[in-house]
Amino acid sequence: MTQTLTIRRPDDWHLHLRDGDMLRAVLPHTAQHFARAIIMPNLVPPVVTGAEAAAYRDRILAALPEGADFTPLMTLYLTEDTDPDDVAKAHAEGLIHAVKLYPAGATTNSASGVSDFSRVAAVLGRMAEIGLPLCTHGEVTDPAIDIFDREAVFIERVLDPIRKAHPELRVVMEHITTADAVDYVMASDRNLAATITTHHLVINRNHILAGGIKPHYYCLPVAKRETHRLALRRAATSGDARFFLGTDSAPHTDANKLLPCGCAGCFTAPNTMSILAEVFEQEAALDRLEAFASRNGPAFYGLPVNEDTLTLVRETPDFPGHINTPDGPVTVFDPAMPLHWTA
Ligand code: DOR
Ligand code: ZN
Repeated sequence: MTQTLTIRRPDDWHLHLRDGDMLRAVLPHTAQHFARAIIMPNLVPPVVTGAEAAAYRDRILAALPEGADFTPLMTLYLTEDTDPDDVAKAHAEGLIHAVKLYPAGATTNSASGVSDFSRVAAVLGRMAEIGLPLCTHGEVTDPAIDIFDREAVFIERVLDPIRKAHPELRVVMEHITTADAVDYVMASDRNLAATITTHHLVINRNHILAGGIKPHYYCLPVAKRETHRLALRRAATSGDARFFLGTDSAPHTDANKLLPCGCAGCFTAPNTMSILAEVFEQEAALDRLEAFASRNGPAFYGLPVNEDTLTLVRETPDFPGHINTPDGPVTVFDPAMPLHWTA
């Protein structure tokens, strides 16, 4: 039996770091394992301009623990007023690596997102020209659409028309949760990839709703039925370069998770690598963990693979149930299964 597993140091291609005290509390957990991360811009107010992204990057760098080696890869939050020239300038300076599309109202702090997709056509056209990826939160917000169908309907109503209008646009479908999304990625031969979270490889909707409601398993897009989870596991462990890790680790205090109208998000930064090793071993695919966590992402984003490595050891890890922050405790995602790998 393999006792250690050494892979190129992984990156997280979708991460929420927040700001201020919360940023300082959660960042060390990511920097411990990951060399780089695509940083989500859904702060309040959102990170819309290049100048705002530069200021946020500096706050992240200032919050890093002494000696940590971590590079935040910044993104801009797409609004209907986003200026294509500002986007192109931030990209040319090497400051930003993607632009994030939130349909208005789809999730946490998405109120400034896009309602009328025709109003972002010029920005998307410019991004296609300069090769800057668009990261999508792939859910429609139409209240008539069942929440479990919102990803599939987004593909049909929003994403496919955008990709037909801008065939050169490079798109990352973020945190996919359905077999429909897996199939859509597999059917494309270029300019399309998807991130998959750790938690969506582990939970299905029963974890949230059966035997009592479990707010800590509530995230967006919401976990779907088991057949979809299995499709995600096949995609993630396949080695296919179009699928890579984006944890969507999204810290909220317990006070904000446990409200009558609680926040969406699972905080997985501390135990993601242990959980992934478990999942990949269950799928007899430990040899493909490196592709998913360390190689496929940089290949899509046109960045080098990290030079240094991360070694996982077959030892029962010991994670706290929560971390303490000045804003209050934040519960660490419970994978509801024994773990055998320590990172
Ligand atoms: O579960 C989620 N939490 N999904 C998102 O899209 C946003 C995120 C957050 O910012 O809390
Ligand atoms: Zn997210």
